[in-house]
Amino acid sequence: MNELPIRIAPSILACDFGSLAGEISAVAAAGADWIHVDVMDGHFVPNLTIGPPVVAAVRAATKKPLDVHLMIEAPERSIGDYVAAGADRVGVHVETCPHLHRTIAQIQDLGVKACVVLNPGTPAGSIEPVIADVDQVLVMSVNPGFGGQSFIQSSLDKLRQIRAWAEERNPALELEIDGGITMKTIGQAAAAGANAFVAGTAVFKGSAEQYPQRIAALREEAEAARHS
Ligand code: DX5
Ligand code: ZN
Repeated sequence: MNELPIRIAPSILACDFGSLAGEISAVAAAGADWIHVDVMDGHFVPNLTIGPPVVAAVRAATKKPLDVHLMIEAPERSIGDYVAAGADRVGVHVETCPHLHRTIAQIQDLGVKACVVLNPGTPAGSIEPVIADVDQVLVMSVNPGFGGQSFIQSSLDKLRQIRAWAEERNPALELEIDGGITMKTIGQAAAAGANAFVAGTAVFKGSAEQYPQRIAALREEAEAARHS
């Protein structure tokens, strides 16, 4: 089992956007490792969220690494804008990148970490040729577009497959899971090889006083599962 650090990445999609800076400070102080930022264009996914100016506002609110998940068509056109806005890790969907290897290099040439993202219906094999080139893989465990959906169990096989490839070809690969992560599903994902966990609803529901306890509990559950 890999010993990469556990990363808990609260997704700000589930926060109170009316108090964005306060929500980010609260979740950073509560022990978040990364801040997950969901960018949606209303074309690749049926929802529209935020763009570079809001990413810059998130950047100004915290020093934590920003894990920017681009759910947009033709991401190569605007990767530079998101890096300039303060992204530390940029995730692009394999479904949007006909020249995936080139797009990974484009991200890394800007001095940030490159992540490739797979939809639930996209096979693990679609990223196998680039497994040694990327810094991170994000397996979607819901169809992207909305928070609060249920975890798709077939994501676990995908995690196991990708972790097995990574152990041979890229042991430092950060393997992240996004969608439906709860106290019930985080252990399953950790046991299957994920070390980074996006959690929207599971962190942000309820009041800010509960964020530290929520993040700590998710982390403990992940740690326990991968050592059991
Ligand atoms: C879905 C987004 C997720 C979402 C997760 O398209 O990529 O990051 O916010 O939300 P929960 O944790 O509520 O499933
Ligand atoms: Zn996301």
